[in-house]
Amino acid sequence: MVERNGPDRDASAPTGSPHSPPPSFIEQANVTEPALHETFERNWPNCWTRAADLLSWDEEYETVLEDEDAPFYRWFADGRLNASYNCLDRHLESGRKNHAAIRWEGKRGERRTYTYRDLYVEVNEFAAALRDLGVEEDDVVTIYLPMIPELPIAMLACARIGAPHSVVFAGLSADALATRMDAAESEYLVTCDGYYRRGDAFNQKSKADNARIGLEQDVQTVVVDRLGDDLPHVLGENECDYHDLRETFAGETVEPVSRDAEDMLFLMYTSGTTGEPKGVVHSTGGYLAHVAWTSRAVLDVKPDDTYWCAADIGWITGHSYIVYGPLALGTTTVMYEGTPDYPDRDRLWEIVDRNAVDIFYTAPTAIRAFMKWGTDYPSRYDLSSLRLLGTVGEPISPRPWNWYREHIGGGDCPVVDTWWQTETGAVTISTLPGIDEMKPGSAGPPLPGIDVRVVDEAGEEVEPGQTGYLTIGRPWPGMARTLYDNDDRFVTEYWRRFSDPDAVNRQLTSPHSTESREDADDWRYFSGDTARVDEDGYITVLGRVDDVINVSGHRLGTMEIESAIADVDGVAETAVVGRSSGTGDTEIYAYVSTESGHDSDAVIQRSILDNIESAIGPIARPEAVIFTPELPKTRSGKIMRRLLEDVANGEELGDTSALRNPEIVGEIQAEIADEG
Ligand code: WT7
Repeated sequence: MVERNGPDRDASAPTGSPHSPPPSFIEQANVTEPALHETFERNWPNCWTRAADLLSWDEEYETVLEDEDAPFYRWFADGRLNASYNCLDRHLESGRKNHAAIRWEGKRGERRTYTYRDLYVEVNEFAAALRDLGVEEDDVVTIYLPMIPELPIAMLACARIGAPHSVVFAGLSADALATRMDAAESEYLVTCDGYYRRGDAFNQKSKADNARIGLEQDVQTVVVDRLGDDLPHVLGENECDYHDLRETFAGETVEPVSRDAEDMLFLMYTSGTTGEPKGVVHSTGGYLAHVAWTSRAVLDVKPDDTYWCAADIGWITGHSYIVYGPLALGTTTVMYEGTPDYPDRDRLWEIVDRNAVDIFYTAPTAIRAFMKWGTDYPSRYDLSSLRLLGTVGEPISPRPWNWYREHIGGGDCPVVDTWWQTETGAVTISTLPGIDEMKPGSAGPPLPGIDVRVVDEAGEEVEPGQTGYLTIGRPWPGMARTLYDNDDRFVTEYWRRFSDPDAVNRQLTSPHSTESREDADDWRYFSGDTARVDEDGYITVLGRVDDVINVSGHRLGTMEIESAIADVDGVAETAVVGRSSGTGDTEIYAYVSTESGHDSDAVIQRSILDNIESAIGPIARPEAVIFTPELPKTRSGKIMRRLLEDVANGEELGDTSALRNPEIVGEIQAEIADEG
């Protein structure tokens, strides 16, 4: 049995009645071969050349997969390519230069369209500027920008010159930025003066300044002027203005640097079980092939589509499915800076209607909000251009799934529920909308070529209907290659739990020695999720088993939040858990005991909220801070997080007699009842 289901209990509802994709959809779908799963199985790993064939290579690869140094797999190794060439130049050469690449919708109703040629010009100019600033191949460039076009432009400019980017979500704090720049020893930063949130101007530059103060390295900073006159735009030493750079390098072009398929395209920090964020490393060839292939096969993206993934590029979803996947396929990608409810709750549907969006991809938390707001908002607009809907980031239960299909998709759009992670790089579980039946509440079968197994503690596959751990047995092209500068942690975090212990020990004691390592079957990746599989092999993902909370599709480590709380003067102990709200969203509950043993303390409460905001950002703000004289502990002194999670969720509590202080549980329950 699995020790914990994570907070997403809503998803344990049974799946709803299945739907077949409509014939009109199948007729036009990119991928319709009924036997595709079997074809991939038979030809594995060579089946993945289908993905690699979507790209333009400077030099063809010699082998599809090298697994001698598992779990440090190499895909399409020795092949050479450039990601920016694949997303730009080749579309110019194939006659699509005046086709819209990005349609940007600003927060204040501004609009900008970049054709492939416009994007090419600006990316080249900025690539030339970055080089001039001293950026060399393999230097990590940190990008700390909100959803403005300069964000994908900066990413592609980095890719062009072979400098891995590390995009830090603009809503994260100065401390979070500093931690990431320090870990990556990054000496270059692209940021902006500020940005608008619900009409107000926010200062981003001051966060960037604060981050740089604490860093050992000198940082060259490029500042995009987003606010015009709304904030003073004063540049200091080692800082330059993005628009000045563009003028200086106007019309310059930069030859795309030919990169080895295994060279790092970018790194993306994500939360883990310890306080220290993990720098997930993605490759150039395998990653780009996998995102292009899944954009085509799962999201059914075609070059003439207008496609909209309403995520933020500051997370992996936006990297893979706003920037790299759609641009590699030469389609039009919509980029939206705002929120779904500003200026009104019909904002997204107005954008779909005006742009005649074909494909729309969002998160369950947004869908649950649309459902709560009611059908009046979408019904004001013509959404008939939509052909396919997608969801990602959390489990979605049948009710919101059906609502989405009915009220946004008009009843005849396939809905793909796509399971993947920062570490998988691209979608790994989903129905193929031109082939597979959909079951609301279940993500679907693993994609062709992906070997997902739901296993028990001992690594044995569980029976259909039983809950187990979601693992992946074979490598896949988009997979993370390692954690930045931390191969050991890559092995221990993802591979140790379910792989052959001898293989793991060999890799940890003599890293990268490829002697006597032919048994690739020894390795099994652990996702950190629990899941259930049905008789047809459809997978329902239940939630995390580790100390990670998924809030609105963003992954937050409880340890990171706890350490921000523990830093506050007067706090004795703390435990942070996820709580499933009535609508199925996950909220953060923080339990705190103070040194003075007081039940509650307004000053400490204020400092806790401030500290979390400055250590991580407003997204990590707890819904409730519950003060308690003590936290429930086992006799050996371990805090019972599991119990605290059940208490927050109003679950039946099991036997608490093993606790050292069982009486505290009732007090905490009473406290929560008061809160609610
Ligand atoms: C975690 C990964 C990659 C997309 C954005 C989040 C959860 C993701 C689903 C889904 C149920 C899902 C998992 C996963 N998750 N998609 N379709 N159904 N759960 O990326 O921040 O790396 O988080 O999001 O728990 O492990 P991430």
